[in-house]
Amino acid sequence: QCILTGNWINDLGSNMTIKAVNGRGEFSGTYHTAVTATNNEIKISPLQGSQHRKNQHNKATFGFTVNWSFSDSITVFTGQCFLDKDGNEVLKTMWLLRQNVDSLENDWKATRRVSVNVGNTAPGAR
Ligand code: BTN
Repeated sequence: QCILTGNWINDLGSNMTIKAVNGRGEFSGTYHTAVTATNNEIKISPLQGSQHRKNQHNKATFGFTVNWSFSDSITVFTGQCFLDKDGNEVLKTMWLLRQNVDSLENDWKATRRVSVNVGNTAPGAR
């Protein structure tokens, strides 16, 4: 089984907590990023997501949005939950960070950040 609910830590050291996934596959949670593209003080930020209902307990695809409480950016993640060869849950995700820009002319540089993250359940989590 691969269940999203719980505490996750990624390769950057960021921590994410996903609360219960409801019957429609919807979930919410919090994201505590270890890094920021801003000079602002990092604060825990809310996330809202959706998990595919097919295959819900096994390798399900999902997506979520983090609305950063300390910056004017938004990050969207898409991913899939897997079990590694030792049976540990692993999230493979891609993300896209939209920065706020002040004008239409600067739109071209608003979405320059895109990358991958690997998430693992924290030891003793859930
Ligand atoms: C910002 O800098 O404007 C908000 C924080 C962005 C953190 C990014 S989101 C993708 C990547 N994965 C993380 O855990 N943190 C960074």
